[in-house]
Amino acid sequence: MLRNGVVGNVGQPCMLRWSNRIRLTWLSFTLFIILVFFPLIAHYYLTTIDNLDDSGPRIFEPRSGNALCEVKHVQDLCRIRESVSEELLQLEAKRQELNSEIAKLNLKIESCKKSIENAKQDLLQLKNVISQTEHSYKELVAQNQPKLSLPIRLLPEKDETNFPLPKSPNSCRLHSCFDYSRCPLTSGFPVYIYPLDQYQFSALIDPLIKQAFLETARTNIYVTNNPHIACVYVVLIGELQGSTVLKSIDLEKQLHSLSYWRSDGHNHLLINLSRRSQTQNLLYNVSTGRAMVAQSTFYDMQYRPGFDLIPSPFIHAMSEPNFLEIPPQVPVKRKYLFSFQGEKIESLMSSLQEARSFEEEIEGNAPADYDDRIIATLKAVQDSKLDLVLVEFTCKNQPRPALPTEWALCGERADRLELLKLSTFVLIITPGNSHLIASTGCSMRLFEALEVGAIPVILGEHVQLPYQDTIHWSEAALVVPKPRITEVHFLLRSISDSDLLNMRHQGRFLWETYFSTSDNVLSAILSTVRTRIQIPAAPIPEEPSKEIPHKTGKTAGTDPNMADTGDLDLGPVETEPPYASPKYLRNFTVTVRDTYRAWNTAPGPFHLFPHTPLDPTLPSEAKFLGSGTGFRPIGAGAGGSGKEFQAALGGNVPREQFTVVMLTYEREEVLMNSLERLNGLPYLNKVVVVWNSPKPPSEDLIWPDIGVPIVVVRTEKNSLNNRFLPWDTIETEAILSIDDDAHLRHDEIMFGFRVWREARDRIVGFPGRYHAWDMTHQSWLYNSNYSCELSMVLTGAAFFHKYYAYLYSYIMPQAIRDMVDEYINCEDIAMNFLVSHITRKPPIKVTSRWTFRCPGCPQALSHDDSHFHERHKCINFFVKVYGYMPLLYTQFRVDSVLFKTRLPHDKTKCFKFI
Ligand SMILES: *[C@@H]1O[C@H](CO)[C@@H](O)[C@H](O)[C@H]1NC(C)=O
Ligand SMILES: *[C@@H]1O[C@H](CO)[C@@H](O)[C@H](O)[C@H]1NC(C)=O
Ligand SMILES: *[C@@H]1O[C@H](CO)[C@@H](O)[C@H](O)[C@H]1NC(C)=O
Ligand SMILES: *[C@@H]1O[C@H](CO)[C@@H](O)[C@H](O)[C@H]1NC(C)=O
Repeated sequence: MLRNGVVGNVGQPCMLRWSNRIRLTWLSFTLFIILVFFPLIAHYYLTTIDNLDDSGPRIFEPRSGNALCEVKHVQDLCRIRESVSEELLQLEAKRQELNSEIAKLNLKIESCKKSIENAKQDLLQLKNVISQTEHSYKELVAQNQPKLSLPIRLLPEKDETNFPLPKSPNSCRLHSCFDYSRCPLTSGFPVYIYPLDQYQFSALIDPLIKQAFLETARTNIYVTNNPHIACVYVVLIGELQGSTVLKSIDLEKQLHSLSYWRSDGHNHLLINLSRRSQTQNLLYNVSTGRAMVAQSTFYDMQYRPGFDLIPSPFIHAMSEPNFLEIPPQVPVKRKYLFSFQGEKIESLMSSLQEARSFEEEIEGNAPADYDDRIIATLKAVQDSKLDLVLVEFTCKNQPRPALPTEWALCGERADRLELLKLSTFVLIITPGNSHLIASTGCSMRLFEALEVGAIPVILGEHVQLPYQDTIHWSEAALVVPKPRITEVHFLLRSISDSDLLNMRHQGRFLWETYFSTSDNVLSAILSTVRTRIQIPAAPIPEEPSKEIPHKTGKTAGTDPNMADTGDLDLGPVETEPPYASPKYLRNFTVTVRDTYRAWNTAPGPFHLFPHTPLDPTLPSEAKFLGSGTGFRPIGAGAGGSGKEFQAALGGNVPREQFTVVMLTYEREEVLMNSLERLNGLPYLNKVVVVWNSPKPPSEDLIWPDIGVPIVVVRTEKNSLNNRFLPWDTIETEAILSIDDDAHLRHDEIMFGFRVWREARDRIVGFPGRYHAWDMTHQSWLYNSNYSCELSMVLTGAAFFHKYYAYLYSYIMPQAIRDMVDEYINCEDIAMNFLVSHITRKPPIKVTSRWTFRCPGCPQALSHDDSHFHERHKCINFFVKVYGYMPLLYTQFRVDSVLFKTRLPHDKTKCFKFI
């Protein structure tokens, strides 16, 4: 900040100096006269006296001549001598006086020089500010260019049968069978779902699937009721009960008479969800035209890669899986190294006739059937007793129905899961018929394995796994060609614990994201189509903030605590207008370029975020060569410390501001004090006060005016989760979450902000805590003691990205938010778990400060025994929900670059105290 009147301050001492200089000259002149002439005069007198006195030449001493004064005629001279000596003494005194005056003036000159130096610095800063402002202005002008207009909409062909049909429907691909003109990039991917009463065979659909499907379709964000604007038309075709009743020909007829089938069914998606393992292939002999098919069973002749898709079986209809029933991911090794259970049914079932005849048709040269070799090898491993493995090739009870050459599942789902929970790996042997590239039985095995953390080993590399074009299965499952069966044991034994756990972890992510609930299953199917045609996902919702109006008026003073930040200004305050972080700049790139990351890392591809902490950064020279918008390099690129550093944000990302979010509950005075302390904080965009009490603020409360808007938002209920809601009034990526009684100095906040800008995906803050292992109870403890290793940074004083507010509120398992509400505690622990789970990185602690509560503030509910007890419980509960302990330790703390560095006196540090 530029202090007004700096120039005046410099001017005054200098004016003073001019009048002094005249005086000084005069004085020096007098002094000179005295010093030069007086010795001459004195010498004359002294020699005269010395001639009368015969004691020889000596230094004049006033008292030594008293004897001589008796001589009468000398008395005159004596008197003269005395007066002269008197005069001499006076002059000597004057000389000293003048000397001290000179010294004083010298000091003044020094200070004058210093203030010139300061003024120069201020000028530099001013220049800096001016150039920054010019910069912003230029950017503003640049941004005022006419907005990007929406692309020209492709109109659906009038005569929709017009475009040429491929030779056979089996060669359908997007380019030949999909009508893009119905799906503009900016259309938002509207999906129309046929009401079930529009086609008769819907009566045969499994009621449970029907019900769950309709339920999730109702809440799905892409579903529209308007068939005329729809991009994709969805027909639920299964799974059918007693499907023998329905003939292929009837099914075909009914499909073709759908209202928007338009002769060839383009842009239609036939979804066949399966809940049972029994499979046939009704659609094989049905002409589905240009419709895409999503089902779990496919023959290679039938499957059109990049067009059809393989969904997961539809087992769960609940909205959230019960995380407590899922076994923990650790210990890594389980009782059995691997297991397999299944049976091959050789009986000819009439309903399978169709498929069978088909197989014979295409199976001219049958591939080697490896099953015998597999059985023999696995049995040998079991008998060798080198490792505990469990393989069973006949079921104890009636095997589930299956396709010929497919290994039938044994037992009930619950029994199978029990065995999987004891298995590190589970073998999935694909059907002997290699034309069967996807079967429900195999999918079922795959998903049951992922659910309880048995790592799938798929024997047969030719199979198509669900969503194979977007999901990288190799990160969660091993796919081994059947001829390698003899090497499988060696292979599995060679895998390290950390790789193993990573695979289990990834499997859990895939299961949770795509397969665990009916919502996820439908979302995954629709997202696959959406991703293929490159339409961005729907934006993630924001929390609408209902503002409580309030009176502002009190001018905030400067807090005495703030004065101790040293004489450095911390950044532009008055010169920087409010600046919201730009949003949604990567709509298409996150869909098209980041497909792998979107699908294979949490939180999955279902939402479009306004910004994420993972957006790519430019190389440093780009900001000087054409891509400089928003960048604020230090010293305009020349670098620097002190003032240059304070005048610009620098770093690798464009300039930005942050929002303070403060949760408060009926502590008005504490709150007002805290707000006042934020007065004059640079880069502060807005303060959002989350009013967690049903009682509105007192009528007569006058809020401080701190130069930025204070928005008070009303909450539905008193919940600590409200602290992390992604309020729509938060316009910056950076959120500084602080407790209403937290005491942070401005320089600490500024430093934290600058550090966060370099570690945007982490929690960056002040109070460190850690999780400690309790030997006796074999569980985790929450610990707040001083320690050289930490794993959490409390959100009572920490920066984090708004992205995590979305994840916390809408993606994190509900069970965790429920626990926070139940205990009215642990929301900060939950946030640390979430961020470490997503990033696999610990938080960052800045500065030496360990405590931050205001001294003398009334204590909040913390710091009693029950508070700590609850926090132990929370940690252990969260570990159960995640299936492992996401927190990671760190022994690292951040201080500013020149902290404690010895500097030459003309150089300044980055911050004075930190
Ligand atoms: C749906 O899929 C199941 C298993 O994949 C299959 O048995 C059934 O015939 C299919 N239904 C239709 C209508 O194709
Ligand atoms: C397939 O359908 C055709 C007529 O549409 C029929 O002649 C043929 O028998 C059917 N094949 C099977 C295996 O159902
Ligand atoms: C990106 O998506 C958001 C949210 O749907 C939208 O508001 C914005 O206009 C889109 N931007 C572009 C360039 O399409
Ligand atoms: C913290 O340290 C003190 C003494 O060093 C110890 O008595 C106490 O149990 C520790 N607290 C925790 C939670 O570990």
